[in-house]
Amino acid sequence: MNDLTASTPAQRQAQYDAALATLRTRMAWAVAGGGAQLHARHRERGKIAVRERIELLLDPGSPFLELSPLACWGLHDGEVPAAGIVTGIGRVAGVHCMLIANDATVKGGSFFPETTRKHVRAQEIAWENRLPCLYLVDCGGAFLPQQDRVFPDWGHFGTTFYQQCRMSADGLPQLSAVFGGCTAGGAYIPALSDESIMVEGTGRIHLGGPPIVKAAIAEVVDGETLGGAAMHARVSGVTDYLAADEPQALQRLRQIVGALNWQTQASATRQPVRAPLHDAAEIPALVGTDLRRPYDVRELLRRLLDASEFQEFKPEYGPTLVCASAHLHGYPVGILANNGVLFSESSLKGAHFIELCNQRRMPLLFLQNITGFMVGTEAERGGIAKHSAKLVYAMATARVPRLTLIVGGSYGAGNYGMCGRGFAPRFLFAWPNSRIATMSPDVASTVLTELRRASLKGPADEEQIERLEQDTRRQFEEQSDPYYATARLWDDGIIEPAQTRDVLGMCLQLIDESTPRFAGPSPVYRM
Ligand code: COA
Repeated sequence: MNDLTASTPAQRQAQYDAALATLRTRMAWAVAGGGAQLHARHRERGKIAVRERIELLLDPGSPFLELSPLACWGLHDGEVPAAGIVTGIGRVAGVHCMLIANDATVKGGSFFPETTRKHVRAQEIAWENRLPCLYLVDCGGAFLPQQDRVFPDWGHFGTTFYQQCRMSADGLPQLSAVFGGCTAGGAYIPALSDESIMVEGTGRIHLGGPPIVKAAIAEVVDGETLGGAAMHARVSGVTDYLAADEPQALQRLRQIVGALNWQTQASATRQPVRAPLHDAAEIPALVGTDLRRPYDVRELLRRLLDASEFQEFKPEYGPTLVCASAHLHGYPVGILANNGVLFSESSLKGAHFIELCNQRRMPLLFLQNITGFMVGTEAERGGIAKHSAKLVYAMATARVPRLTLIVGGSYGAGNYGMCGRGFAPRFLFAWPNSRIATMSPDVASTVLTELRRASLKGPADEEQIERLEQDTRRQFEEQSDPYYATARLWDDGIIEPAQTRDVLGMCLQLIDESTPRFAGPSPVYRM
C-alpha cells in the first residue's frame, strides 16, 4: 500500500483501483446478508428480502444513503453481514426518512453489539436531522450469547427504546411495519411506535415466545395464537393496521408518511447546482493510496465543489489548512481542508474561520488528511498546545452543523481538531485509502521501542526490541485500517471518491431541511 515509488498518476490510479475493488467485494458480502440458502427459506415463507423491502418503500428512482454497510466486517467470524440491520436515509412519499430495517436472514435479525450501535447511531442521525423513523421489523431481540454486550448499558438495546420515546415526544414520527417474529426487545420496537402495521401470517409480537411461555408458566401455545397479526389487530389492539402481505404493509407505510403533513424548512440560500469543471474520476490518481505523498488539497476541492469554485480565507497565512467558502449541490458550505501538518498559524486561522461560518450560518465540512499538530521546541515555544486547543474549542462549540470526510490519514490530535467521531459531526464518512489511529505504525513502533529502551536498566535485548517493533507495527497496521474502523461503527460508512459529491450533497440537503436546529445544541447524548 505505502509504496513511495508510486509517483505517476497511472500507478496511483492502479493502486486506488485495487482499493476500490476490495471495497466493492466487501460491499457484496454486506448485501448478501445471510446467504442464498437462508434467503431461499425467507422467500418460501412469503417474505421479501430486506433490501427489496426498502426499494418498495422508497419513492421510485430516489437515492438511498445507506449507513455503515460494512459494520461487523471481520467480526463474529464474518457471520453477521452489515450487523444484521440495514439503516439509511431515503425519500418516502416525498419525505426524507430514516429507515431502520432488520435482516432476518442474519441470525434471525437478532442484535449483536454492533447491531445495537448501528441502530442507536441511525436514531441519533434521525434526531439531529429531524427525520421521521421507519422501522421494518423482523427481529429476534438480543443475540443471547452476547447479552452482556447488548442489554444492560447506556448505548445498548434500552437506549434504542429511550431514543424512540424521546424522538416521538419531540415530534418526530416513529412508525413500524412488522414482517416477522418480534420477541422481547424486538416486540418493543413496534409497541413503542406511534403507529404500526403487521403482516398477517408472518408478523408476530410477543414479550415471550412459546418456549419462554412454556418455561415460565407451563402454558403450551402456538406463536400465531400468542402474538399473531390478526389477534393484535382485532383483539389486543397492539397493532393499528393489518396487511395481507408485505407489499401491502409497505404501501400502507407510504400512505401514513404521506399523511403526516410533514413540513421541512428548506432555506432560500440554495443556488442552482453547477457540476465541477474537473472530473471526480481523476481523484484516485490525485490522492493515491500512499498517505506520505503530499498533494495540493485545492485540486481535490476543484473536483468536489460546484463549478470548482471556492473563496479562500487568509490564503497567505497558515497555508497547511485551507479554509474556504463554496457551494456543493447548490448549498453553501465552509470547508476546512488539511494541506500538511497543523501549525499554530493554521490552527488560529481555522478557529477564526469557524467563527465566520457561525456568523454566516454556513455548515462546516472538514476534509481530514492529517498526521497531527506540529511538535518540537519551536512549536511548543510558539504555543501550539494552546493554539491547537483554540481550534478544537471553536470546532466543538460551533453553532452550525458539521460534516467530516476522512480523505487520508486521521492521526492523533489532528483527528480531534478536524472534527473526528468524538466530536459528534452530523455525518462522518471515510475513503478506502484512509487510516485512523493515534499515530502511524512507523511512529508508534519507534515510540514504543524507545520507551522500552529507556526503561531498561542494563543493555537492551535486541531480539526482544525487534519483536516489540514488529508487534507494534502489526497492531497499528491492523487497527488503523479503514475496515477495522467501519466494522466498529467509528464512521458512517466508507464511500468511493466518485460518490462523494452526491453523498455530501444529500447531507447538506438534510441539514438545510432542518435549518431551525442550527442554533440549538445537539439533542443527542453520546456514549
Ligand atoms: N439469540 C441468539 N440466537 C438467535 C436469536 C437470539 N435472540 N434469535 C435467533 N437466533 C439464531 C438461531 O439460533 C439460528 O441460529 P443458527 O442459524 O446458528 O442455528 C438463527 O438465529 C436463525 O434463527 P431461526 O429460529 O432459524 O430463524 P427463524 O426465522 O425461523 O425465526 C425468530 C426467527 C427470531 C422468530 C426465532 O429465531 C426466535 O424466536 N428467536 C428467539 C427470540 C427470543 O427469544 N429473543 C429473546 C431476546 S431477549
